[in-house]
Amino acid sequence: MKLEFRFAQTLRLAGLSLLSVVSILTTLAAGVAAQGEDYLATPTPAPWQPASAEAIAQGRTDFNRYCAPCHSADGRGNGPEVKVIPGIKPKDLTTISTRNGGVFPYRDVEATIDGRKIIPSHKRFDMPFWGVSFQQQGREFSPESEAKVRQRIDAIVDYIATLQRP
Ligand code: HEC
Repeated sequence: MKLEFRFAQTLRLAGLSLLSVVSILTTLAAGVAAQGEDYLATPTPAPWQPASAEAIAQGRTDFNRYCAPCHSADGRGNGPEVKVIPGIKPKDLTTISTRNGGVFPYRDVEATIDGRKIIPSHKRFDMPFWGVSFQQQGREFSPESEAKVRQRIDAIVDYIATLQRP
């Protein structure tokens, strides 16, 4: 019961209905081998490019809208939804570098936010799979939609990088 409620709340935050998730997952299952390859099969990604000020601003806008409800605007993890959804503990996003030996792991953070590369563990369901939620409606998993999703998530990653504190 509790878990179902949490999952439903998480979907609500991602702007998805259960029905759309089922249809997206079906599309994903059918199309991932053919279309999703681009993102899912990149074993050695290109080095991270420095972000423009525009990208960081776009990342901040998306972060405040989609992430702050749980992670809070300052990234420390006590957004308003934490009081509504039972038992979730968003990690402090301002200590990612500190917890990683002083280096910000851009690609790992990207993969965590996207969610599709991470083997779905029980806990991972506490956070929406943004790589799915951000797909263009009606054109899910097309190369153009995938490129936009990647660009958007990367901008959020660049914004989170600016929130790091020692
Ligand atoms: C429904 C609440 C919720 C929303 C909305 C949410 N998150 Fe999360 N997030 C979590 C929880 C809970 C965890 C911890 C999951 C775990 O421990 O496996 C987490 C973990 C993370 C992590 C891993 C942090 C670490 O140090 O390992 C990152 C990065 C992250 N979230 C980014 C985002 C971004 C970016 C967004 C918006 C696009 C977002 N989250 C939206 C709940 C949320």
